[in-house]
Amino acid sequence: MNAKPSKQYIYIVQSSKETKFCKIGITESLDRRLKDYNNMTGKSQDNVYEYLFTCEVKNMRQVERDIKAKFSHLREEKNKEIYFYNSPLFQGYVDFIKSHKMFVKEVYVKPEAKKTVVKIVKKTTPTLQDRGLSRKDVMQKAKKANNDEFYTRYEDIEREISMYDKKIWKNKVVFCNCDDAVGDEPRNNNNTSAFALFFINNFLQLKLKKLICTHYSGALDLFNTHVKGYVFTKDGFQEIKEYPAGYTGSFDDPLSVRILNEEADIVSTNPPFSRAGDYWKLLIDSGKKFLIVSNITNVKNQPYMSYFEDKKVWAGYNRIDKYLNPKMESVEASGHWYTNLQINNRPKYGLLKIVPLKEIPNESKRYDDNKTLVVDNCFIPNDYDKPFAVSARPILNGILEKGYQYAQNKEYVPYIENRRCFGRILIKKV
Ligand SMILES: C[S@@+](CC[C@H](N)C(=O)[O-])C[C@H]1O[C@@H](n2cnc3c(N)ncnc32)[C@H](O)[C@@H]1O
Repeated sequence: MNAKPSKQYIYIVQSSKETKFCKIGITESLDRRLKDYNNMTGKSQDNVYEYLFTCEVKNMRQVERDIKAKFSHLREEKNKEIYFYNSPLFQGYVDFIKSHKMFVKEVYVKPEAKKTVVKIVKKTTPTLQDRGLSRKDVMQKAKKANNDEFYTRYEDIEREISMYDKKIWKNKVVFCNCDDAVGDEPRNNNNTSAFALFFINNFLQLKLKKLICTHYSGALDLFNTHVKGYVFTKDGFQEIKEYPAGYTGSFDDPLSVRILNEEADIVSTNPPFSRAGDYWKLLIDSGKKFLIVSNITNVKNQPYMSYFEDKKVWAGYNRIDKYLNPKMESVEASGHWYTNLQINNRPKYGLLKIVPLKEIPNESKRYDDNKTLVVDNCFIPNDYDKPFAVSARPILNGILEKGYQYAQNKEYVPYIENRRCFGRILIKKV
């Protein structure tokens, strides 16, 4: 008689000493493998390994290969099956495995530690068809989503917020509507978005009335599993996480829009780059106060210029030169704070050099092939009445508050001796 073929499993295991990582592996015996981990020589007594997730699959090697390919950017080292861990990343791994064609059944998933009051509402599972999406839409969405996964550093939030009068926060409801994760305590940069963490940590100091953060279910949605957006609310000492049925957590989900319009006083977040235009429109139309991060070039991009022109938004105090990638590594960024909160005597006015044209050094002024004046290095001629071209920098330093306005509502690209220069903005004296 043939021996019964053994079962095959995929597991995600974690050591209690290294919670920033997890290991994704394969085995034919979950019990034996966990024992092996916990009997490893050289392992300290208080370092305990435990499974976060296990499941049965048909061809564990194939699933393992596909996980490696899919999450190669999240592996600590290319030759080890050690992956970066935080709650959204973990959810991404689990969803990928569960949507794999070799997936058979879930064996175990570690229950979430629940320190907060959690009200679970039955989740729904819309199909692609229900959501009016094709497979191609989903793939495109996945590509875009990868570009959105850059995170604001805590210190950049601290630095910007320290510039405003503290009184503006008093008794206010702050809404972070693209703030991905609020983990259970102890909260840190690995399980909680820096915006949420900042406002939780400074809740009393800023005398906030309420903090509401929404979690976007993007990664889950991509694999068309269940919708699992949530709303985290901190109201005094009470913290609640709610999972409303069918809620995606998207900033334009009807529930998020209701919170924005009916509850929020000040919105603060770094919205997804792939949807920044829609985000700005929704936010500015709401008429709410805001302090958000977006691309430095928004001041010269057509969809945003009318907001600057109509004084519905202006630059905040600081630029942002670094974001964190999903591995929590620092990467180059070109972000800036934008707001409609009052800016007191903008320190960067001091960088604007507003002088007569003849005092602008030749290396900072040129005429392009259209005979348009192009000035650089934050020089601004104060005796020139025609439109002239500047980079984004003087706009971010507040030139629109100093008697100048946009002369054209789209980017201006100068050509000098038929050579294309980088895009500028045409401005003129009011
Ligand atoms: C640039 S990241 C910033 C994340 C976080 N706010 C921060 O500053 O660290 C944008 C975030 O928005 C999330 N996101 C993408 N689409 C969204 C949507 N439609 N609604 C809400 N959030 C979304 C992404 O998953 C991503 O985490």
